[in-house]
Amino acid sequence: MSEPWPAAVAAAWHPLAYASELDRPLAKTLMDIPVVLFRAGRDAVALVDQCPHRNVPLSRGKVCGNHLVCAYHGWRFDLHGQCVGVPGADSVPNVAARSLAVHEAGGLVWVSLAPQPPPFPALRPELGDPSLDRFWWPLPSSRARLLDAIENLLDPAHPHFLHPYLVRRPDARRAVDVHFTSNARGGEARYTEAGTQSAWLPRLFEGRRTISIGRYVAPTVAQLSFESDDSFTLAITVVFVPESRDRTRPFAHFATPRGLLPGWLKRRALIAFHTPVLRQDRQALALQAENIERMGAPDYHQGPLDLFGPLIWRLANGLSSPTEERKLQFWL
Ligand code: FES
Ligand SMILES: [Fe+2]
Repeated sequence: MSEPWPAAVAAAWHPLAYASELDRPLAKTLMDIPVVLFRAGRDAVALVDQCPHRNVPLSRGKVCGNHLVCAYHGWRFDLHGQCVGVPGADSVPNVAARSLAVHEAGGLVWVSLAPQPPPFPALRPELGDPSLDRFWWPLPSSRARLLDAIENLLDPAHPHFLHPYLVRRPDARRAVDVHFTSNARGGEARYTEAGTQSAWLPRLFEGRRTISIGRYVAPTVAQLSFESDDSFTLAITVVFVPESRDRTRPFAHFATPRGLLPGWLKRRALIAFHTPVLRQDRQALALQAENIERMGAPDYHQGPLDLFGPLIWRLANGLSSPTEERKLQFWL
């Protein structure tokens, strides 16, 4: 019997695809369960990707009208997964592929494996704000453990070592005031520092950055937001999707205020500069996952800069977390 998934993660809604991709059956994996997504008319449909006849993946079939037709013997399934036709016969067995709860929001198709899914949560406002320049950066999954990947995005302590001069300068640390608040829904760290940042990415994209914010929205959303003069300059929101124990797919959304630069140019520049950062993070997360697998289980010890790790672990596992507020100073 394998270890159970963290309770709040198992119950949550997870994006599996962009809504625009559903013009054909798509094979996805969510928490080790194979899922097929397709569109029946206007409705997005999610079924467990296993034909109830001889268990071929339904995703290898095709959509005809409002039905999904299996590639092996041509059994037809409706949007509830119910078998509605068997070629060469007048009768139809009363069998169904398991149907999963599905919801479209923010340009994504979300699925819950829970037998009784929770109400679909409100998304971060940046994801639906038409006054902003916004885009999703399509990314594949990589070897990474879900909760470690979430912590990585919100971790202020690694950029000096993993992304030197791109995100933080290791040779020019300075005092940063940190205001950390958390409650049963997530946490927020506000980092306030004087003047401009000296590393490349912040200089190019964040202008006169004075405040950066890391947010965790339990169980699987993390956001970095950068503010200057009371308005935000860049918000990176990532929904992390657990494909398996050590494969995680990020759905990364970028939002910037409309400004002098056209949206397409900002998109190109943001992707170009975040590509090396992402590669470095993926390498570290893969090494971490590989080493934990060799050792059999994680054995973590908390340090003074680990604001989010324990909170992520508690809330993802469905444990309560008291409302808390802390003021600290870091050298970043
Ligand atoms: S395996 Fe799907 S119809 Fe036979
Ligand atoms: Fe990083």
